[in-house]
Amino acid sequence: MKVLSGTTNMLLAERLSQCLNAPLLVRTIKRFPDSEAYVRIEDEVEGERVVVVQSTYPDERIVELFLMVDALKELNAGEIDLIIPYFGYARQDRVFLKGEALSARAIARRVEVDVSRVYTINLHKAYITEYFERAEAIHLSVMPELGRYLAEKGAEVIFSPDKGALPYAKEAAEAASLPYDHLNKRRIDAETVVIEPAETSVAGMKVGIVDDIIATGGTIRTARRQLLSQGAKEVFVAAVHGLFTSGALEKFRSEGVDVAVTDTIQTPVSRISVAERLCKAILEG
Ligand code: R5P
Repeated sequence: MKVLSGTTNMLLAERLSQCLNAPLLVRTIKRFPDSEAYVRIEDEVEGERVVVVQSTYPDERIVELFLMVDALKELNAGEIDLIIPYFGYARQDRVFLKGEALSARAIARRVEVDVSRVYTINLHKAYITEYFERAEAIHLSVMPELGRYLAEKGAEVIFSPDKGALPYAKEAAEAASLPYDHLNKRRIDAETVVIEPAETSVAGMKVGIVDDIIATGGTIRTARRQLLSQGAKEVFVAAVHGLFTSGALEKFRSEGVDVAVTDTIQTPVSRISVAERLCKAILEG
């Protein structure tokens, strides 16, 4: 087995190479002056199972992914496993308005070409795995890792920011033997959400919040403020995918938000690794 790292998750690819005991392939990925991508694999892979690591975010990385798989086919690689640490376009997981593209399905059906298995992590909706038609789709949740991280920080109860995300809080809390609950979120616009009071009393408690994605950070900042206004002693945040758009990380820093995300997107606060969970799944598969 060998590991082919794209450019989106090089640190995670190194961690996977270590826990799979599989070497990283020597490769060149660069851009032409007109920004088109170029990929070359410099090692032999004939007949080898290769684990490709690349997220479908941002857009131009999707083309790199196609080229990596194409180069592997050119070199007659054996089975190709694709790890998509952060599956971009997952939030358009249905047609909400007539005429819209079903983006999650469009990406799934294209990235699975020439691939045997696709591993994804905490997709916005687990049913997105049904959009893969040819490859075996394996969906992993690292909420237990988030729960254990929050417990180590001292959290005594775990919340999700809304009712829909309650299964995340449950999964995280159960792994850490903690109680859990949810807040009630109402979205006003892309950057504004209102969080209604939680039922569970948080007065004097250290509270953890889990979510799948942090984008603008509006959800988390509002949830944290709500919990603090209800008397929470401290609030720790852990999420899977840290997109941190619209200066979210700077806003967190200025408000003193204690936040950690995983390495599905490498960020300055990627304090939790998904590598072990992935290695286990790959070696079992
Ligand atoms: C929503 O359904 C997701 O689980 C996240 O809560 C949301 O994507 C976070 O977005 P933002 O950080 O922009 O509030």
